[in-house]
Amino acid sequence: EQIEKNGYEHFMLKEIFEQTQSIKDTFRGRVVPASKELFLGGINEVIPKLVEARRILIIGCGTSWHAGMVGEYLFEEFARVPVEVEYASEFRYRNPVIYNDDIVLAISQSGETADTLAAINLAKEAGATVLGICNVVGSSIPRNTDAGVYTHAGPEIGVASTKAFTAQVTVLTMMAMLVGYRKGTLSKEEYEKHIDELACLPEKIKSILDKSEAIKELSAKYVDSTNALYLGRGYLFPVALEGALKLKEISYIHAEGYPAAEMKHGPIALIDEQMPVFVAATKDKSYEKIVSNIQEVKARKGHVIAIVTEGDTVIKGMADHVIEIPETLEALAPLLTVIPFQLISYYIAVLRGCNVDQPRNLAKSVTVE
Ligand code: G6P
Repeated sequence: EQIEKNGYEHFMLKEIFEQTQSIKDTFRGRVVPASKELFLGGINEVIPKLVEARRILIIGCGTSWHAGMVGEYLFEEFARVPVEVEYASEFRYRNPVIYNDDIVLAISQSGETADTLAAINLAKEAGATVLGICNVVGSSIPRNTDAGVYTHAGPEIGVASTKAFTAQVTVLTMMAMLVGYRKGTLSKEEYEKHIDELACLPEKIKSILDKSEAIKELSAKYVDSTNALYLGRGYLFPVALEGALKLKEISYIHAEGYPAAEMKHGPIALIDEQMPVFVAATKDKSYEKIVSNIQEVKARKGHVIAIVTEGDTVIKGMADHVIEIPETLEALAPLLTVIPFQLISYYIAVLRGCNVDQPRNLAKSVTVE
């Protein structure tokens, strides 16, 4: 096991650090930066169906569901197609409306999650085209879908998913770009700009990982917290959900992810000097809005730890701590902002003496209901 951990203390840390490589593996051979070509062999034949689709239903559980939410923003923006993101367990039991021209996209690291498999079968019975995004080659979900794309993140051992999430989001980004470009809803210029930027992400992730010592020191300040709030807007709302889930899963600190503007409809009542509020606040179109959300937290004496774009001075002047990350395109920001959140939850959990790779009550793959 020590050999497999490759010198890292835990699989989770190893997998967080592998993301510079796993993202490359996910787009290797599928994105050709020189020619700006994007090719997803596994779904090539169904691209026309995706271009024509009236809607896409994305299903998954846990972290895969969060990746699906990022997918919703991506497909709606690039391909202008309505998307519903569903928890597989809810979808399968509520007599959902499924049209035979629907595209159902199932996301799963393991490819074995019982609820996701059952939802797939329901969608197939209704005549929908069912696609998969999975990590484990030859697992049940890829065997039971019409077509799909493997994430190629490599084996993920830590129960809390990290590199599988960024790989899933990478695949969703490529799919949405491809469909949008073919459909004409994503301009050539934007398409090419995103392809170039995708190729820059591994370097940018590395520069975030290089700050892990500073992130560890910062995390130490919140080891005794009993609650935490995670906020984000737009593409960074699902990242807030994922940040909160990571903290809950491995450190057993109660955490909630919220769209920042919804804070005033409830969670703001919880904010006091004991409450760390982690905010994904990189520069994008809702930047001014998130700045005011941070002010609202500070006015109630909450501790703000903000992930900001390099060079940001406004939030730096307000927040208790900032973690600067490289600038990127708005649609690709989840792939960078999630990294500090993964590291924070990892370090907090380790400092609390928790079993990071095998948290209590959780399983890597939930093959029963
Ligand atoms: C379990 C794991 C999570 C994972 C979820 C969905 O709860 O602990 O990390 O996100 O299942 O798993 P899947 O393999 O379908 O992505």
